[in-house]
Amino acid sequence: MIRQLEELARRADAELQEAHAEEALNELRTKYLGRKGLLTQMLRQLGSAPPAERPRLGKLSNEIKDKIAGALDAALKRIEDSRGDELLRQEAVDVTLPGRAVRIGQRHPVTQVMEEICGIFSRLGFTVEEGPEIETDYYNFEALNIPKDHPARDMQDTFYVSDNIVLRTHTSPVQIRTMEKMRPPVRILSPGKVYRPDSDVSHTPMFHQIEGLLVDRGITFGDLKGVLTFFLQEVFGADILPRFRPSFFPFTEPSAEVDIRCVMCGGEGCRVCGQSGWLEILGSGMVDPAVFANVGYDPEEYSGFAFGLGVERIAMLKYGISDIRLFFENDARFLEQF
Ligand code: DAH
Repeated sequence: MIRQLEELARRADAELQEAHAEEALNELRTKYLGRKGLLTQMLRQLGSAPPAERPRLGKLSNEIKDKIAGALDAALKRIEDSRGDELLRQEAVDVTLPGRAVRIGQRHPVTQVMEEICGIFSRLGFTVEEGPEIETDYYNFEALNIPKDHPARDMQDTFYVSDNIVLRTHTSPVQIRTMEKMRPPVRILSPGKVYRPDSDVSHTPMFHQIEGLLVDRGITFGDLKGVLTFFLQEVFGADILPRFRPSFFPFTEPSAEVDIRCVMCGGEGCRVCGQSGWLEILGSGMVDPAVFANVGYDPEEYSGFAFGLGVERIAMLKYGISDIRLFFENDARFLEQF
């Protein structure tokens, strides 16, 4: 029986060496130590051994049982431990990998140009005034010397909300709103959205304008030329020489449109300047006495100049953009370039 026990211990040991998986180990436990296991059966036979040998056999059986159980536990623990190691390996973070770049946004090119322009004028003492985008016919037209049914209304196609309410077609109504609440000296700039039913490569139904207004005693056309020349040189470079071309606006007299040498061709003539060599940049003029009368300023005492410009147009010329609609398509590949 001793030999049988030793043989069983050897076999168990050999099988244990072969068993690597948790399942195999559990099978071995059942095979040897289970209720019907090989060792368990031998222990049951102990009763039939001669009494003198029983203590020795009992001791040996228990030693073998403890050894097998111990080896099984150790093997299981090894599996458990290596599973932990494997998990740690899988979940390891490589802190030396390069990080994922965060895409940093920036202000829209139209906003950037608008802020640049406001910055230039604020150095000349202009402050910013804003007005509503949904405007009354009075502020958008009548107070600016554009009577109902006057042909001058045709200069600006208009979105009508109702007979007397429009989406403002320009930022000029802010002139009126400002003069109504302020006495001269007035030196304001008014950036904002304006609307006209127009859509092609150089027109969108919504675009941005900046209106400027300066009123005080003794303001002359020379002041207009000086301020606007300074402004254009700040934006387009000191060698820009603006051209003041007589024009007409109902709210100014005299009026001038201001051109610069084409930034694309340098004046040679190209598609952008329509072969003329000049680019029209803004409208301007001396505030018409009729406008002053509408806000209760005495035209004998005060004079002033006003101007209005399209922000997208300036941005297009500054950055060489050929289609205004690109500004409003929200394509990050376009916007990222500014
Ligand atoms: N409001 C004009 C327009 O949208 C632009 C303009 C021209 C504004 C002359 C002015 C000005 O203040 O004096 O076409």
